[in-house]
Amino acid sequence: MPAKGAETVTVTDRVPGTSDLQQVAVSVRAVSRSYASRRGRVAALEDVWLHVSPGEVVAVVGPSGCGKTTLLELICGLQAPDCGTVEAGPAALMPQQDLLLPWASVIDNAGLALRAAGMSRPAARKVVAPWLERFGLAEFKSARPAALSGGMRQRVSFLRTLLSGKPVLALDEPFAALDAITRAEMQGWFGHVLAAQPRTVVLVTHDVEEAVVLADRVAVMAPRPGRMIAEIDVDLPRPRRRTDASVATLRAQALRALGMQL
Ligand SMILES: Nc1ncnc2c1ncn2[C@@H]1O[C@H](COP(=O)(O)OP(=O)(O)O)[C@@H](O)[C@H]1O
Ligand SMILES: [Mg+2]
Repeated sequence: MPAKGAETVTVTDRVPGTSDLQQVAVSVRAVSRSYASRRGRVAALEDVWLHVSPGEVVAVVGPSGCGKTTLLELICGLQAPDCGTVEAGPAALMPQQDLLLPWASVIDNAGLALRAAGMSRPAARKVVAPWLERFGLAEFKSARPAALSGGMRQRVSFLRTLLSGKPVLALDEPFAALDAITRAEMQGWFGHVLAAQPRTVVLVTHDVEEAVVLADRVAVMAPRPGRMIAEIDVDLPRPRRRTDASVATLRAQALRALGMQL
């Protein structure tokens, strides 16, 4: 749980200007996607099915190269499937590599989606400022991305995605570059924000424990070709802790699905 600011969590965790945020589903049906390579075509995804109900959080776990990033880009409409269909509402992608603008300050990078939606710079900064405080970035608000650690850049990128006001969040390893303490803090904030204002979330992570702690359901993928091999319902009350016995049980179930010897 976050040490700082946790006691101030209120309905203001809603993202401003999104009170009428419509809940939408994500539906991926029979999707295949391959890429051209020097050695012919690489099947990144084959016959992938995934349904995420409105307001549901689904974590996607699987080894490197099983097509997780491809799946998120399909959901966000950044690429098209070779066959099958993808339906999703407006989706905000938090990419695996943060795409912060090198010339813009932290506060303006975090508010980029608000500016793109037509908000003035002063208004966007006003919205972003209290969130920088919560995310431990306040003293860096005028810094450029080059002056930040990898974990801080990731926090700015996460904040930008959160503040986009899109009903669907597609998060590609959002907490991977964070140290354990900051990761637990960010996961805590993620939970608070979703509790205050549910979104439909597809969360890609290689951390099976994180998947069980945060998600309503865990979808397990296997590589070559990338496909869904298991789905695990996480029917546990929140907040959950990594140390909970029930979390450990589901984690073991997911790892077995991934073929890990326990
Ligand atoms: N633009 C691309 N061109 C060629 N091959 C690609 C491209 N993007 C991904 N791939 C290949 O597709 C497979 C899945 O990639 P990716 O979706 O990035 O997986 P993951 O995010 O799970 O690591 C990998 O074998 C990768 O090398
Ligand atoms: Mg990836």
